[in-house]
Amino acid sequence: DETLEIRVSLLKWYDENQRDLPWRRISCKGEDGEDVEESDKRAYAVWVSEVMLQQTRVQTVIDYFNKWMEKWPTLYHLSQASLEEVNEMWAGLGYYRRARFLLEGAKMIVEEGGGFPKAVPALRKVKGIGDYTAGAIASIAFKQVVPVVDGNVVRVIARLKAISTNPKDTVTVKKIWKLAGQLVDPCRPGDFNQALMELGATVCTPSSPSCDGCPISSKCQALLLSGCHDSVQVTDY
Ligand code: ADE
Repeated sequence: DETLEIRVSLLKWYDENQRDLPWRRISCKGEDGEDVEESDKRAYAVWVSEVMLQQTRVQTVIDYFNKWMEKWPTLYHLSQASLEEVNEMWAGLGYYRRARFLLEGAKMIVEEGGGFPKAVPALRKVKGIGDYTAGAIASIAFKQVVPVVDGNVVRVIARLKAISTNPKDTVTVKKIWKLAGQLVDPCRPGDFNQALMELGATVCTPSSPSCDGCPISSKCQALLLSGCHDSVQVTDY
């Protein structure tokens, strides 16, 4: 059905077009036989990168991410850092509270000794991890079938389903989280979520989206309602 086709088309597009980003290189072995260390390493990298990406462009984050991982390659290394060191590393990224939360969260997880939390409710208990970051870590690092919704995903899904109420309104955003949860691919949840974010960032942009290059344009209700592919009225989302 429609949902299956959207998953297949979007994942195929992602496989062919995804950006080569350092936090995506943390090895991604199959679910079976994967050692805990490997997925915890990935969780840490996903956490750091997603927090950095919250208010900063991808191009800027790459350098900061690489330097950060060089200095603190694991969660344990980070937990031993001082706030001064962390702030120094963060200089230029802004919103220093995010750096402090990373440090406090790392201390918390290491002190509890159970490794990286894997499920969304447990992740949400960590300092500074909200719905977005919890979903990103759970799906990308631990293959949990949960949605991730950022501003880009709100716009993509609002257009896909022609939800015309204000995407900044919390009721709409709640609805979008629910739709994203129904859409997420059960076999590749992390890739699917990143594909949606990436589609929003590179194709389904706020103004003049590139519907011609969109792998799911044939399923897009906003495009359908706007009449034809040349006169797209998909800018209200
Ligand atoms: N924007 C923020 N996080 C992202 C991710 N993991 N993939 C693509 N775009 C993103």
